[in-house]
Amino acid sequence: MSIRPITDAEFTQFQRFIFDAAGISMADAKKALVTGRLTKRLAAHQLQSFGDYFKLLSSGDHPDEVQMAIDLLTTNETYFFREIKHFEFLRAQAIEARNQSRPFRVWSAASSSGEEAYSMAMVLEDCMQTTPWDILGTDISTRVLDGARRALYSMERGRHIPTDYLRRYCRKGAGQYEGMLLVNRQLRSKVAFAQVNLNMPLPALGQFDIVFLRNVMIYFNHETKRQVVARVISTLRPGGHFCIGHSESLNDITQAVQMVAPSIYKKPA
Ligand SMILES: C[S@@+](CC[C@H](N)C(=O)[O-])C[C@H]1O[C@@H](n2cnc3c(N)ncnc32)[C@H](O)[C@@H]1O
Repeated sequence: MSIRPITDAEFTQFQRFIFDAAGISMADAKKALVTGRLTKRLAAHQLQSFGDYFKLLSSGDHPDEVQMAIDLLTTNETYFFREIKHFEFLRAQAIEARNQSRPFRVWSAASSSGEEAYSMAMVLEDCMQTTPWDILGTDISTRVLDGARRALYSMERGRHIPTDYLRRYCRKGAGQYEGMLLVNRQLRSKVAFAQVNLNMPLPALGQFDIVFLRNVMIYFNHETKRQVVARVISTLRPGGHFCIGHSESLNDITQAVQMVAPSIYKKPA
């Protein structure tokens, strides 16, 4: 069955769909991306036009398909120890917090497939000694969260993990898992993953010492960024820190945090 090329009007419907669902502003230039990513879903439902697929998504009868479309339209690129300065900063903060009795809590607020959260976990396991700590990783995409919970990655994806951490915190796969690494159980037990849409009011997550909100604001317009940042900052403890991607900015977005280094902000104590 042949699928008709997406029309401008249909593309506008998908721009609206992903904006309403996730707050993602998709540029007109992304037409080929939408076509490439969704064509197999039209085929799965034996639909010939993107308009028909949009109708199916809008009917309210297919919540799983809506989630699948969101999964396909989000960009989930990530890797271990991406933007290393933030992990050095995390280490310094964790060491300072070693004498506190309450758990040191960190949130990876658009965690994708978990590499960011497990990189944090390796740093904390290395330096927190007896101070309790925990990490929450959240994302809108259930597909990447399933991968994050599995904690099984190709060795190639682990190439930025420091050798010492690789040896101490990961198991090397054998047999059918040859060429893979598994984050060890001890670390996994301190990292929880949950679906959270940053574009909606947040569920009760508790308070965090540090939040990473990295490489997701690039997909949001100014107003969405403002709302998302306000929500995220509300979960920071007074004196807590907030890290954004190196190519992102908080200019005209919030006055509630102060910059302490490029892409690192502090909520006043
Ligand atoms: C490019 S990845 C960034 C991953 C990681 N933070 C990093 O810097 O490597 C962006 C992630 O944001 C997620 N995302 C997009 N919109 C979201 C929303 N409204 N709520 C929660 N997560 C969202 C996507 O599913 C994707 O996994």
